[in-house]
Amino acid sequence: MEFFLDTADVDEIREIAAWGILDGVTTNPSLIKKSGRDFKKVVREIASICNGPISAEVTALDTAGMVEQGLALKAELPENVIIKIPCTPEGLAATKTLSDKGIKTNVTLIFSSSQALMAAKAGATYVSPFIGRIDDTGHDGMNLIAEIMATWDNYPSITTKVLAASIRHPTHVLQCIQLGAHTATMPAKIFRQLMKHPLTDKGIDGFMKDWADVEAAGNA
Ligand code: G3P
Repeated sequence: MEFFLDTADVDEIREIAAWGILDGVTTNPSLIKKSGRDFKKVVREIASICNGPISAEVTALDTAGMVEQGLALKAELPENVIIKIPCTPEGLAATKTLSDKGIKTNVTLIFSSSQALMAAKAGATYVSPFIGRIDDTGHDGMNLIAEIMATWDNYPSITTKVLAASIRHPTHVLQCIQLGAHTATMPAKIFRQLMKHPLTDKGIDGFMKDWADVEAAGNA
């Protein structure tokens, strides 16, 4: 399973990239705003920290505008940048055009398995169902991941990866793993939570204290 960071904060990306298991980064206009930085400069820097796919989102709402922005981003930004496109009919057409040109895409704001299937048919490299935002409406976002994975099982020729997004807690990630989602994108806080266990910390404390005694006894 691929683990992506969902942030445009380069300090966080450096921190998690140093662990050696970061597979990619997703950004969106809200995360770029939060970074307070120039869009292309920050995406360029992110792409220099992480070799994996870096999603940069188009902001046009019409097909021609999305295609134009996607082509411009591909021309101006490093090779590992992929184009994030909203799941609308216009976005679908832009995804088809860009994927026909061999450009990798991430179709975002997916809230139903029919949207995911149509994005896959348009040649999307990734589809991004938003779990947390569905949970926020009082429904279970994980059902959508289950539905999409079941759909994918029915059509083995689909190569589009399911990128679980809008992840709010570590249990979301564990459930996505159980369901076989290909990728999860999450904030740095969740990477840290996934690695943290009080018994690991307690175990290290015990080993360090005992090793100090081994050293003190001259047996190291
Ligand atoms: O990158 C898109 C997605 O992960 C957004 O998450 O927390 O704003 O719903 P959130």
